[in-house]
Amino acid sequence: GLGYVNGKFVSLDELVIPIEERGHQFGDGVYEVIHCYNGKPFMLDEHIERLIRSCEAIKLPITQTFTDFQELILTGVENAQLDFGKVYLQITRGIAPRNHPFPNVPVSITMTLTESAPTPVEMREQGVSAITHEDERWAKCYIKSLNLLPNILAKQVAQDQGSFEAILVRDGSITEGTSSNVYIVKNGDIITTPLSNHILAGITRIAVKQAAKELDIPFVEKNYSPDELLQADEVFMSNTSIEILPIVTVDGQKIGNGVPGEITNKLYSQYQVYKQ
Ligand code: PDD
Repeated sequence: GLGYVNGKFVSLDELVIPIEERGHQFGDGVYEVIHCYNGKPFMLDEHIERLIRSCEAIKLPITQTFTDFQELILTGVENAQLDFGKVYLQITRGIAPRNHPFPNVPVSITMTLTESAPTPVEMREQGVSAITHEDERWAKCYIKSLNLLPNILAKQVAQDQGSFEAILVRDGSITEGTSSNVYIVKNGDIITTPLSNHILAGITRIAVKQAAKELDIPFVEKNYSPDELLQADEVFMSNTSIEILPIVTVDGQKIGNGVPGEITNKLYSQYQVYKQ
């Protein structure tokens, strides 16, 4: 793997961030995770667009343009000789003595480029389990913010119960997973939570929507309840790392007959085409 800090490439274990850095002290920043296939960052433009939207949403004074980010990431991928792996890009409000108001300093940009192992085949073939958990996050979940404490706490509750993901519930509706978007299939329709301030507009979600369109499967964006989740024919999740992954039990209850669904598998196959 390779690291990048404010204009220079470094090794991943180099000590580079001063203690008084606002990402470190306040979580005052935003990030992106981009997957690389065959040395090519997948859906890069969409990720950069979302990164810029996140910066604007928290008033980060970036001076970089869309093209600057493109160049930075492509240079990073080349320098790291990254083939199959992840680009993690983080922007914070910079380095300044700890004080809540915005400092008048440049933003800090850091990046890691690391090879990763593909999602284990048995997870895809058998599907994973999930739990439902109260959505304890703030009101601006459309921002890809560094503040992931509620996400991490809910994820750990899931992991401690031997589940892979926690599916979050706010006011009686499913929002999303702790680090994924969540979908159900009912009577041939794919149903997923509509975009709002309560969920992250996943980049993989864009690809899922496109795949549904090409496969002629209705893609319905509407709220659904934990009951509808449990009564679904299929459940699956999506994100940059796991792509499209079947969920076969929720809160210990089988979804359908407890195996990955046909529509989930079709969407996954279509997604593989996009990656090429
Ligand atoms: N997380 N919702 C949340 C809360 C997320 O954190 C993520 C991604 C998604 C899916 O977004 P995308 O399809 O753009 O990856 C939805 C990344 C992978 C992470 O935090 O590691």
